[in-house]
Amino acid sequence: MTKALPIAPAGGKVGVLLVGLGAVSTTTIAGIMAIRKGIAKPIGSLTQMGTIRLGKRTEGRSPAISDVVPLAGLDQLVFGGWDIFEDDCYQAAKTAGVLEPTLLNQIKDELSAVKPMPAVFDRQYVKRLDGPNVKKGKTKRDLAEQLIEDIRRFKSANQLDRVVLVWCGSTEIFMTESPAHQSVAAFEKALDANDPTIPSSMIYAYAAIKEGLPYANAAPNLSADIPALLELAQNTGSPLAGKDLKTGQTLIKTIIAPGLKARLLGVAGWYSTNILGNRDGEVLDDPESFKTKEESKKSVLDYILQPSLYPDLYSDLHHVVRINYYPPRGDNKEGWDNIDLVGWLGYPMQLKINFLCRDSILAAPIVLDVALFLDLAKRVGYSGIQEWLSFYFKSPMHAPSVYPEHDLFIQLMKLKNTLRHIRGEELITHLGREYYD
Ligand SMILES: NC(=O)c1ccc[n+]([C@@H]2O[C@H](COP(=O)([O-])OP(=O)(O)OC[C@H]3O[C@@H](n4cnc5c(N)ncnc54)[C@H](O)[C@@H]3O)[C@@H](O)[C@H]2O)c1
Repeated sequence: MTKALPIAPAGGKVGVLLVGLGAVSTTTIAGIMAIRKGIAKPIGSLTQMGTIRLGKRTEGRSPAISDVVPLAGLDQLVFGGWDIFEDDCYQAAKTAGVLEPTLLNQIKDELSAVKPMPAVFDRQYVKRLDGPNVKKGKTKRDLAEQLIEDIRRFKSANQLDRVVLVWCGSTEIFMTESPAHQSVAAFEKALDANDPTIPSSMIYAYAAIKEGLPYANAAPNLSADIPALLELAQNTGSPLAGKDLKTGQTLIKTIIAPGLKARLLGVAGWYSTNILGNRDGEVLDDPESFKTKEESKKSVLDYILQPSLYPDLYSDLHHVVRINYYPPRGDNKEGWDNIDLVGWLGYPMQLKINFLCRDSILAAPIVLDVALFLDLAKRVGYSGIQEWLSFYFKSPMHAPSVYPEHDLFIQLMKLKNTLRHIRGEELITHLGREYYD
């Protein structure tokens, strides 16, 4: 057995600052408030409901994860955030239309007290949106400094011990790395020069990381996933996680695909289409924002199926992903998948999946878990990319030397083994020879 790592205590008050108080954020915040009141249960959350096996199967030890690693409790959390709209969290939750008014009304006072701070926003990066609650600044550096002021004010006004920041804002247009993204020095120069390759989400990420806060990205845009901000995170001790929450269709894809590959069933095509009617769907109706999402959604099959290792099974795979904006459905997304399979001797088969899901209901427990696990990472002294949190993301951040791991079951094993490692417990390999020797 290895030694348990030293962990700073989990006590005190923890601020959770969310960028964008839209469907995902308000469903997370309202959900946690309802759970605290005993109105509902934290279904879907590993930190709240998950267990972890420790030691041999014969030992019968499977405690709750929250009993094994010290996590902040829900009562310790204090919420805040930014949005381009002035609606408080209660109004924003009503607009998002995810949770029933009967539930929202039971937490109305607490929810209404969460009011958005003015946002850093530029329409250039999210074409389908515009709103009045936006900061002014001569340079992007000014804007970053205003965000840092916001963070410090929020921390002192609420007497917080720690703060975590999560981007739950809209998906920005597709961007690739630029020279300004290559080092902290180049990035800071570019902030002063209002470089167009620094979108709003990077300004938030910079502010959070500069303050040494844990930072997660719930959306697919680059945000903190550039060399400059990874370098800054190492300097300031910020743990990072992202990108793009793994909910809905991609969650199912990363559950089914590893199973097909495990049995060496070929896949000739995988056609995925969705209808979605919330504001996220409206933003993604813009081809430039959709491109960011499409890249994120499409990469998973390549990595899971590994066509270079299995050319006979997967090299001709046609993978198509569509999202259609369809207002009548609101947040209640419907996804259809048609998978063209190939079996023994090349005989074709088909698998159809019709998932009637709720986007933000699947996303909220992830935001909670990621916030609590990042807070743990910070207290353990971890900084930079937290690959063990890949479990929660469609495009997991990863070291340049390795490919991202997309298989949900490997991701879960990595997460739980990291918790075991932190506590000095034996890692589980599933070898199991000892039961038969
Ligand atoms: N719901 C899911 O299952 C899911 C899954 C994966 C990823 N995501 C991503 O999470 C993000 C949020 O999703 P949502 O459904 O809550 O969308 P939403 O449109 O309901 O909320 C986004 C909010 O962000 C605000 N915003 C946009 N730019 C901002 C900025 N620069 N500063 C402050 N606020 C800003 C918008 O005004 C809006 O209120 C999206 O990028 C979405 O693609 C959602």
